[in-house]
Amino acid sequence: MIHFAVITLFPEMFSAFTESGITSRAVKRNITQLSFFNPRDFTQDAHRSVDDRPYGGGPGMLMLAEPLFQAIAAAKQVLGSNALVYYLSPQGPVFTQAKAIEMSGISTMILLCGRYEGVDQRLLDRYVDAEISVGDYVVSGGELPAMLVMDAITRLLPGVLGDPQSAQQDSFMQAGELDCPHYTRPEIWQDMAVPEVLLSGHHINIIRWRAEQAALNAKKRSKVK
Ligand SMILES: C[S@@+](CC[C@H](N)C(=O)[O-])C[C@H]1O[C@@H](n2cnc3c(N)ncnc32)[C@H](O)[C@@H]1O
Repeated sequence: MIHFAVITLFPEMFSAFTESGITSRAVKRNITQLSFFNPRDFTQDAHRSVDDRPYGGGPGMLMLAEPLFQAIAAAKQVLGSNALVYYLSPQGPVFTQAKAIEMSGISTMILLCGRYEGVDQRLLDRYVDAEISVGDYVVSGGELPAMLVMDAITRLLPGVLGDPQSAQQDSFMQAGELDCPHYTRPEIWQDMAVPEVLLSGHHINIIRWRAEQAALNAKKRSKVK
């Protein structure tokens, strides 16, 4: 069981996680728990401001430190003061399957989703334990990156996938390996046949073929160094 506290201005976006597919099943079975903390609920002014212009000028707005600090404090009240705070940021180290495996061993964590041009650096310096990027590109907010991270972690938790072997066979689960090609019915589709070995019923040969194909896949795509 894992408890994610998500700090976000847009909690409604997370219905994609809580209401569809495998991740929704994990939530319904209480294997994955989500709590939301909206910085807007921790503002003091009449406009419930969560952003302001950057000192020194420049385009865009920045998230204010104080509402985020209050939201983190509220999340820690629920999760415990030792819960690590991760800031989703294009500037962090890129998230990998190895990182997902590592994080799947943590029972509570706080995911801070940025918006606008980002967050006042002082909040990051003092209250964030680590940054996570989902790739070398920029999206409009930390919500989709947070969902990617939570999804990759959730599918590794016991009881989430119908067959625990599924996750073990996924790409990147073993260092240097990708998944092999897969085929389903019909045996012939648009003049393309399923490789004969898969129809042979010979388990040792099938295992060997899959391993060879996976190695070939990794080499061809040179995704894995
Ligand atoms: C428009 S981005 C701000 C980008 C920032 N000005 C920069 O260039 O580093 C707004 C928010 O989206 C999130 N974000 C954008 N790209 C991301 C990525 N590749 N990985 C993780 N989070 C990302 C971060 O939370 C960020 O604060």
